[in-house]
Amino acid sequence: MKPLGIGILGSGKGSNCRAILESIRSGALAAEARVVISDVLEAPILEIAREFSVPNAYLPPGEFRTRLEPQTEMELVQMLRDAGVELVVLAGFMRVLKAPMLEAFPRRIINIHPSLLPKFPGLEAWKQALAAGETVTGCTVHYVDEQIDHGDIIAQREVPILPDDTAETLHARIQIAEHELYPAVVAQLCAAEARS
Ligand code: GRF
Repeated sequence: MKPLGIGILGSGKGSNCRAILESIRSGALAAEARVVISDVLEAPILEIAREFSVPNAYLPPGEFRTRLEPQTEMELVQMLRDAGVELVVLAGFMRVLKAPMLEAFPRRIINIHPSLLPKFPGLEAWKQALAAGETVTGCTVHYVDEQIDHGDIIAQREVPILPDDTAETLHARIQIAEHELYPAVVAQLCAAEARS
């Protein structure tokens, strides 16, 4: 099976990126990580890429806080194309993607979110679930569209909320579920690609 070329975008600690790169290394995931890109210069995700010898780059985001400048987003498209990326994997990327990326990679950008979407989009979704008195939450992998934490759902994993959970313990358990779900979904998309 020809490995699918993936590009991982993230702004932070990169634990999902690590889970995906470990899954590739173990042979469970037939993908090739072509590049890891971050809008944060000191983000640990770039260090993880280096640890796994994956090409990596810092993309200076420009003056906006929650999105990239259009020119910067076009540069991002070019960087991903130059690297041979076929599937864009968002792993804690804290910027909303706009037309340049969505048009360049239609239905080829996926994201992981720490709730059972459509419940609790937005920041710190595990805290939202706790505050709402839910007994179950989880994580969702979905295609990215022009809305935040929206788009067709590919897969979800439930995580029970325990009576003595704090925001920290719940978040930690959701992340464990994420680290299983995300590589599995990328593998599923790679297999579907190989069949088509
Ligand atoms: C994850 O919890 C993911 O659901 C959200 O951002 C977080 C990224 O964590 N979109 P990490 O950088 O992969 O550790």
